[in-house]
Amino acid sequence: MELPFSESYRIKMVAPIKKSTRQEREAWIKAANYNLFNLKSDQVFIDLLTDSGTGAMSEQQWAELMLGDESYAGASSYYKMKTAIKNILGFDYFLPTHQGRAAENVLFSVLVEAGDIVPGNSHFDTTKGHIEFRKAKAIDCTIDEAFHTELEYPFKGNVDIKKLQKVFDENDASKIKFFIVTITNNTSGGQPVSMENLRAVRKFADEKEVMVVIDSARFAENAYFIKTREKGYENKSIKEIVAEMYTYADAMTMSSKKDAIVNMGGFIAMRDKELFDKASTFNIMFEGYLTYGGMSGRDMNALAQGLDEGTEFDYLETRIKQVEYLGNRLIEFGIPIQKPIGGHAVFIDAKRMLPSIPKEEFPAQTLAIELYLEAGIRGVEIGAILADRDPVTRENRYPDLELVRLAIPRRTYTNNHMDVIAVAVKNVFDRKDQIKKGVKIIKEAPIMRHFTVALERL
Ligand code: F0G
Repeated sequence: MELPFSESYRIKMVAPIKKSTRQEREAWIKAANYNLFNLKSDQVFIDLLTDSGTGAMSEQQWAELMLGDESYAGASSYYKMKTAIKNILGFDYFLPTHQGRAAENVLFSVLVEAGDIVPGNSHFDTTKGHIEFRKAKAIDCTIDEAFHTELEYPFKGNVDIKKLQKVFDENDASKIKFFIVTITNNTSGGQPVSMENLRAVRKFADEKEVMVVIDSARFAENAYFIKTREKGYENKSIKEIVAEMYTYADAMTMSSKKDAIVNMGGFIAMRDKELFDKASTFNIMFEGYLTYGGMSGRDMNALAQGLDEGTEFDYLETRIKQVEYLGNRLIEFGIPIQKPIGGHAVFIDAKRMLPSIPKEEFPAQTLAIELYLEAGIRGVEIGAILADRDPVTRENRYPDLELVRLAIPRRTYTNNHMDVIAVAVKNVFDRKDQIKKGVKIIKEAPIMRHFTVALERL
């Protein structure tokens, strides 16, 4: 008999988590204004709000913490991180930042001006926020396949080159200085971008003489999908694939809280010395001196170690197979989810799961609330609340997809937890006909409203 699949690590330290009653959860979510960000962590049993900074570090990473060099300038931890970035990603220059959006803030301070256009594949909300904050425009050029959750397509994160061309045809080309490619494509469901597509984006960028910036939060998961899905890459190591991916980029921003498996940290890496020099000024202003930029030495050490571990096949296989396990359990129960199953999360199609809730009543948020009430599971809305208002017209933007993301922290929960999640979703699905009303907004911030929005049940 063939041995079943199992994890590539054993557990050395645990943190207790607490169950609650439905009655308690009803009071807590009401007090939280039906915004799951407002819950206290001990009011949550299984926390799938994000896979960002919520994973478990390895014993080697904890050991690296003890070796951190906290010198203000020239710390050995900085050089450890520099070496890891050069060896794994191939960039000569880098700037540490405290997290991914800080990397965006610094880099876009150099690259983005009012009136600019930044095409890409489903820009993440902070990425879009930093573009729109500078009175520039982010245009989504993700392939159409991404917006049909039932459609099985191996690289639903891809950029549509025809859509990129259209952006050039319809706008002043001098306003376009770079493309941003997000790997994996978080917003469309943790879906990967193929090597072929990265190559095509590079070629197109060269023709138009613009830069390519890779938003790299889940770059290693992207490489895993290239290895397991793209012809010609079966026998290459993850590190070989990663190295090739970055040959197609001029620069990258990184939220290290994802694929570098640390709780906090980020960086910008680039090839061009001039870009590095310009960005350095902003890094010193916003983040910190060049050799720590918002990070402690110990955290830079753990990050360097995490980059190495995060680009090992066994680790990635364990990680992605757990997400797949949850996704397959949901499929067995007939739950409509984004297919194929993504790298860091399972995305439930809320429009199809709760068809009687109109888009104006935020079906994905309604579903996220129901799932919390059912079993203390905290997911996150990726729908109209997140999509926010149009910065010019101030009208609500209704995206094609209303999703609830169940993001799986790295090396944190077991497959028993996945079973609890699957049954909880099924129980909500079984009583979907009783869920007839959604929510309405009673208070919202002018930008990135989803973090702080206050809601009322209708
Ligand atoms: N880019 C992508 C693709 C992301 O998913 C995130 C964060 C960022 C940039 C910003 O990085 O959080 O370190 O400042 N995503 C988290 C999430 C918050 O839950 O998906 P950050």
